[in-house]
Amino acid sequence: MEYTKIDLVFSFTGNQILVKVSPDKRRQGLYSLNFISNFTCLRAFLSLRTDRSENHYQMSIKKHKMKGYKIMDEEKLKQTVKDMVIRGKGILAADESEKTAAKRLASINVESTEETRRQYRNLILTTPGMENYISGVILFEETLHQKSDTGVFFPEVLQKNGIVPGIKVDQGLADLNEDGEKYTKGLEGLGDRLKAYKKSGVRFAKWRAVYTISENTPSAEAIQRNAQDLTMYAKICHEHGFVPIVEPEVLIDGTHSIGQSYEATEKVLREVFEALKRDNVRVDLCVLKPSMVISGKEAVSRADVDEVAEQTIKCLKATVPSVLPSINFLSGGQTPVEATAHLNRINMLGKNLPWYVSFSFARALQEPALKAWQGKQKNFKAGQDAFLKRAKLNGLASQGKYREEME
Ligand code: 13P
Repeated sequence: MEYTKIDLVFSFTGNQILVKVSPDKRRQGLYSLNFISNFTCLRAFLSLRTDRSENHYQMSIKKHKMKGYKIMDEEKLKQTVKDMVIRGKGILAADESEKTAAKRLASINVESTEETRRQYRNLILTTPGMENYISGVILFEETLHQKSDTGVFFPEVLQKNGIVPGIKVDQGLADLNEDGEKYTKGLEGLGDRLKAYKKSGVRFAKWRAVYTISENTPSAEAIQRNAQDLTMYAKICHEHGFVPIVEPEVLIDGTHSIGQSYEATEKVLREVFEALKRDNVRVDLCVLKPSMVISGKEAVSRADVDEVAEQTIKCLKATVPSVLPSINFLSGGQTPVEATAHLNRINMLGKNLPWYVSFSFARALQEPALKAWQGKQKNFKAGQDAFLKRAKLNGLASQGKYREEME
């Protein structure tokens, strides 16, 4: 759905809008329109109703009206950014949904139940010394309400160690088009959910959009749709006093070259920052979580560490405004050692980058811990040691001080 380019004819009647949509653009789903007049941006979510004539869609304003954009408690947001962006530290993503957590636990033959997920989160989040390398942790909603073995709610465990708790607020992916592209669910009711999350002490949020690389993708449709949704999410976060982590992930899956990865990532990031700018989103109060520019996982010949670092830096310099405080990469299916080596090289080569450049890995931080633990109490310490080692090495990589011999 190319929101801004659709040829629409509409008229207001009460809170109803009659919209004429060009036939090739007809699609069921959630529509978002911008009405710009006199520098005021009024945005409304519109949902399709069933009654329609040949090429007329009856829509009603369903949920969200947003006039202008008001940041809640700017000073607190600035403090949150300061607490998240610390030299030698990065962000742990421990926000696997139930479905993803089940996959991770299945890899060590552990059944995923609320209790086994709690045990696993307990192992990671109570690791002694992690606060030396981790400034923030992204949690999944379920984890907010679970307690450590010593009976303390997990967000509180983190806060006590000087780590900022955050929360994944998107609700996963949905089909966007026939090319298998996705958009991310979760904008509706987001403000209300943020209000509730605040009670658990979380201070930042994460929203992930994904893009695939193939002959026809990422399409302009996916690039624009996801950029708009990430922008809307970031605004809603600011309005509720949360720092948004904006995560556009160009997937590593496929046989594509690093050149194709560059091309896709540049387009995606350019559109994300253009959309943020168009809506006057305060980029200095956001964190970017991008994928690295990298060859596809199944590519015949994969680019080496230097090329990944060079192309990633080039792409970021071309697209990311310097007021952004921090870039925290996702690992995206790279091996833990690969992800650390890439981050390190990026920091070695990118000497005078305007942003702090660090990590926000999930798999690349947790995989060794999961393997060492195997769901067994007797391996608890081995699991924590493995996690701490990766956190430490990535902390060093965020300063360009990691060496392969440290593995
Ligand atoms: P990976 O580092 O495993 O890619 O996960 C990062 C993340 O948070 C995905 O949303």
